[in-house]
Amino acid sequence: MRKPFIAANWKMNKTAGETRAFLDEFLPLVRDVQDVDIVIAPPFTSLPAAAALIKGSNVLLSAQDIFYEDKGAYTGEISPVMLTDVGCTQVIIGHSERRQYFKESDEIVNKKIKAARKHNLDVIFCIGEALEEREAGKTFDVLKREVEEGLKDVPSDSIVVAYEPVWAIGTGKTATTGQAQEAHKYIRERLSALYGGAAQDIRILYGGSVTPENIDSLMDCADVDGALVGGASLKAGSFARIVKFNCK
Ligand code: 13P
Repeated sequence: MRKPFIAANWKMNKTAGETRAFLDEFLPLVRDVQDVDIVIAPPFTSLPAAAALIKGSNVLLSAQDIFYEDKGAYTGEISPVMLTDVGCTQVIIGHSERRQYFKESDEIVNKKIKAARKHNLDVIFCIGEALEEREAGKTFDVLKREVEEGLKDVPSDSIVVAYEPVWAIGTGKTATTGQAQEAHKYIRERLSALYGGAAQDIRILYGGSVTPENIDSLMDCADVDGALVGGASLKAGSFARIVKFNCK
């Protein structure tokens, strides 16, 4: 059985003070949740505040990005060593916004994943097709390339894959359960080609306009093992309801 994994990606939102206010409200709401891995990914500047508050709780800390060198002359970048030092155990890599706005290639994504694993950071590895790619019938080609290039020479342990169709991110347009299951099943087949039976243990998250209203039906899909949530993770009550999916 794959343990459900629900992660909040706050993107460029929340100061340290806002992070503390969120956690003061959120932690009591999810205190009793045992059977779900709960992760929050605040911006870099809020990581220390979040780390202090979640200590001893059932919430894990993730960064939203990483650089692939340990240290050196890389102005503006944050290394895996710095992330573990501040209390992160997870890191999101290859988010479509990084691929789109910061020109991250599959090769860079692969280097970042290897650097994270070298320092024992668990990886939330994001993939997904753009609207034009879906409309051109290239969804599976894109997913195949991103899986194969991103995970090249990477062992399967401590990798969570997040399928985030770019056209569903921040648009209010969620993939149907049929579209999500079809993509997730295809991704698991590609993971099986890479890792054999170990692919059955890899969690595959859905991301893209996940809300308290649609989480239950998404989680009912056989190959949807969790969610990576943007907008609906910014409010404690809304994200707590998503964490407690299927508890009506
Ligand atoms: P939204 O939930 O705001 O669509 O964002 C999804 C996402 O990109 C999570 O990483």
